[in-house]
Amino acid sequence: MRIIIDGVTCEAQPDEFVKTVADRSGITIPSLCHHSALPGIAACRLCVVEATPAGGKTQTVTSCVYPVSEGLEISTASEPIKRLRRIILKLLLERAPAAEGRLQQYCEEYGVHRSSTPANPEEKCILCGLCVKACEEMGNAAIATVKRGVDKQIQPAFEEAPEDCIGCLSCAKVCPTGEITWLETHESRTIWKKDFSLERCSVCGKPFATAEELAWLQSKQVGENIEVGMCPGCRAREAVAHTLLDR
Ligand code: SF4
Ligand code: FES
Repeated sequence: MRIIIDGVTCEAQPDEFVKTVADRSGITIPSLCHHSALPGIAACRLCVVEATPAGGKTQTVTSCVYPVSEGLEISTASEPIKRLRRIILKLLLERAPAAEGRLQQYCEEYGVHRSSTPANPEEKCILCGLCVKACEEMGNAAIATVKRGVDKQIQPAFEEAPEDCIGCLSCAKVCPTGEITWLETHESRTIWKKDFSLERCSVCGKPFATAEELAWLQSKQVGENIEVGMCPGCRAREAVAHTLLDR
């Protein structure tokens, strides 16, 4: 089917969401809680757009969970949408004044600044839930949303080093605000107060992953066609060498 985004005709599959089609078509819609591997959270609301279904009325919708339909027209950057995004960014910044990463970049781009004295000047988390979903997607439950109301936080259960954590850093890598940090030395990694030893690459000898993460990859057979004990750099080099030798 075809939909029109900002005047551009885009091909779409019936089960897709507007943001996925826009991303694939090179049209940028700002987002914080969307990740192509973890769709459907719809917590930050920053991906708002105007949507006009064929023969229907224009509505403001969140594009990361709004399904496509034949002839749908989308406007991603009208004045009302930009105004709404500024309000959303302002609310997110008031909650998380110390946020870094994409939230900070969007605030600069949209000219949004803090106007009040923050209740918690160190706060970086916008409670988007992407880190929890990433952990769940890995088949673990190391972190969760704990407490209620203004005290809500992302934490391991009982704020202790989580038994389930494999030190893979998936939570930290998807976080759009830089809230989740970890420490790494040449030999070890610490995240969520849990210490891990780093295993060395079987080819270059560089420490690159935790033993728990490699065991997870092996158990899921993610590495069925690759050498799990090889670091990403060596894997990429080996793939290039194979391609050249196969010619
Ligand atoms: S820690 Fe990061 S990814 Fe997790 S809820 Fe907070 S902002 Fe979102
Ligand atoms: S990216 Fe759509 S609601 Fe967050």
